[in-house]
Amino acid sequence: MTEVTTTRFVGDTSGLGGCVNMLQRMQPEFFQREVDRIFRRGWLLVACDSDIPEKNDYLCREIPPLKTSLIIARGGDGKVRAFHNMCRHRANKLVPEGRGQARAFVCGFHGWSYHNDGRLAGITDRGQFTDIDEATLGLLSVHCEVWEDFIFVNFDKEPRETLEEWLGSMYGQYRGFFNGRRKIATHEITVDANWNVAINSFTEGYHALFVHKATVPDYQGGSGNPDRHRPYMEVTNYHGRYSVEGNPNHKPTKVEGIAYQRGRKMYPTFPPNAAVELDLPSGVNALRIENWLHDVGEVFPNIMLVCSAHWHSLVWFWPIDVDKTFVRAEMFVYEPETVDDHMCQTYFRTRLREVFREDVAVIEAITRQLKSGVMENIYLSKQEMLLRKHYAAVDELIARP
Ligand code: FES
Ligand SMILES: [Fe+2]
Repeated sequence: MTEVTTTRFVGDTSGLGGCVNMLQRMQPEFFQREVDRIFRRGWLLVACDSDIPEKNDYLCREIPPLKTSLIIARGGDGKVRAFHNMCRHRANKLVPEGRGQARAFVCGFHGWSYHNDGRLAGITDRGQFTDIDEATLGLLSVHCEVWEDFIFVNFDKEPRETLEEWLGSMYGQYRGFFNGRRKIATHEITVDANWNVAINSFTEGYHALFVHKATVPDYQGGSGNPDRHRPYMEVTNYHGRYSVEGNPNHKPTKVEGIAYQRGRKMYPTFPPNAAVELDLPSGVNALRIENWLHDVGEVFPNIMLVCSAHWHSLVWFWPIDVDKTFVRAEMFVYEPETVDDHMCQTYFRTRLREVFREDVAVIEAITRQLKSGVMENIYLSKQEMLLRKHYAAVDELIARP
């Protein structure tokens, strides 16, 4: 008889209820509390360290829930810092957009300038100003720390937790995993969806059988796991992750067969590219399951992180309003060495974009339905444990004084 996959739950799942009131979460007042107590206080992943690899590299990032823009800059000393993208003279947006290399930023309005470590560099026609103290007029900084390849910021005056405390047990479990990869795709879309609803459709696999039946019909499941249960699910202080088992009887399509003939298989990765043979850090494929496809994690509050053998992906869900969310997805792969590697990656990128589009399509419909106010609660199975954790973390943090 075939052994059926059961789920090993790790972490404290005892208080995580399966019934969640969504009606209250669709109210503007509730949304405002989420912004003020989660996004204004928590650690937020805003960019990748590898986006600004060299000294004096910088980039701009909009932070939609806080209606602000950041300059994230690596100084001449190699340190990464984050500043409000705002001139101290009359609050003009200092760097309009984009990224580049700069030792200093010059405001386009009247020419005030700033070193890339935030210090004020110069005031044009200085003699005409009275009542100012240059020492206090550096760029307004935001707490900034780097974890693995990811840059986090915290907008609180004095963060209640360090980044290490915020990430909890995850902190030491991904050593080096994200290094040496290159970004092969970025997708952005603004959706008419609540941000919780949006991240929800990415952090459970219960829907894969239905939503993705055309694009990825048999990567998961198979006779040993018809309901596609996750073999491993873990919840931590605020975050959660699970491992996904692949279908050993997956039948590649013709195109996939060609694409994956010689390059490193992107998906699924099990034999001949067995996941267990890879030197993975302890947080990735934690159970060391043999037919491993990938891990899905939620880095609370608004990141989905997917880790697989030869690729990883980050998806941001930035709330704009109670019913509007900016979604940004980035995909990273190993450095290709051959034409075959390129073929594998191109095929994979295209396939994943289709899957992403299918996920996005559902969330607007759900938000519209919830806004009708007809239905108060949603019901989450144990396979949707990351969603239970997500809402528990939201409730815990918005209740904090
Ligand atoms: S607003 Fe920047 S120099 Fe005037
Ligand atoms: Fe999906």
